[in-house]
Amino acid sequence: MIESSDLRMTRIPVHHGGGHMPALGFGTLIPDPAVTITATRAALEAGFRHFDCAERYGNEREVGKALQAGLAAEGIAREDIFVTTKLWNTNHRPERVEPAFEASLDRLGLKYLDLYLSHTPFAFQPGDDQDPRDQNGNILYDRGVTLLETWRAMESLVDYGKCRAIGLSDITLDGLLPIYESARIKPAVVQVEAHPYLPETELLEFCKQKDIVFLAFAPLGHGLRPGLLEDPVISAIAARVGKTPAQVLLAWAVQRGTALLTTPRTAARARENFDISILPEDALDEINRIQTRQRLNEVVKTGIPGFIPKGR
Ligand SMILES: NC(=O)c1ccc[n+]([C@@H]2O[C@H](COP(=O)([O-])OP(=O)(O)OC[C@H]3O[C@@H](n4cnc5c(N)ncnc54)[C@H](OP(=O)(O)O)[C@@H]3O)[C@@H](O)[C@H]2O)c1
Repeated sequence: MIESSDLRMTRIPVHHGGGHMPALGFGTLIPDPAVTITATRAALEAGFRHFDCAERYGNEREVGKALQAGLAAEGIAREDIFVTTKLWNTNHRPERVEPAFEASLDRLGLKYLDLYLSHTPFAFQPGDDQDPRDQNGNILYDRGVTLLETWRAMESLVDYGKCRAIGLSDITLDGLLPIYESARIKPAVVQVEAHPYLPETELLEFCKQKDIVFLAFAPLGHGLRPGLLEDPVISAIAARVGKTPAQVLLAWAVQRGTALLTTPRTAARARENFDISILPEDALDEINRIQTRQRLNEVVKTGIPGFIPKGR
């Protein structure tokens, strides 16, 4: 699956859709609009060519602005970057899918998307409120639409040519199977939390068998401390190979055949996170033997995002 001996240049074929996804992806879940712009520009300058967005992050306009300016300044063509955005839970009704997609495209200032994902498999009550709740603070789910109905509307977007591939985020293997079986256009990508404390091995094996790109978020354990960045196994390998713990974690993710999303907010961290190199087999084995298990984001169980600050 890895196409280049330079880990930074690894591109994974997107079989169900075409093209290639750069394994090293930059995630745009950044609360501050000004930081969104500077961090996105810095990521492009550092070498990132894969950008992950979402209508729910509330900053597609800023990401779009940064990408337009960055592409022009660096002489990079639109075709040379891979851009994803996601359908939010309040837009699962089939008649809401295309308008939501078009609105994202417009905010990003793009003519097409490389990938469109359903952000979570959970449908929320349709409407403008992205976080609809009852008087007790409980999320209002929408029982009037199935994920397969939403998927059918996403398939039409590929038919129209505005989006090269479609996929699912925050899905379990049990949730993926029926969509995979019934889909006319198969899911090209699955985006889930994955790191050495949550390797999601079964899902990864399924994706490899079915030529679905496995895209890991929170590869650094969302930067939480104590956590993966301070894990003794990771730190010892980092010292041994002369890399930082972040670089070890990102290299491990790419070498096991996944793409990843990381969110460095400064130019120095963008350069650090892009500058990964191949780890020896024994280091990979040591990481695979880590026993700690921890899920950081419960979104896969509820559809309620864990990392988005309140008020967005
Ligand atoms: N589908 C979903 O539901 C979902 C959920 C969550 C995330 N995502 C996507 O995945 C992307 C990445 O997720 P994530 O934020 O969890 O990624 P992450 O890269 O695991 O964690 C980012 C955090 O790590 C810190 N960090 C970054 N580089 C570092 C380095 N070299 N050394 C030390 N700390 C470092 C950052 O700290 P500073 O803040 O100090 O820079 C930031 O707080 C998001 O932006 C989003 O696109 C998707």
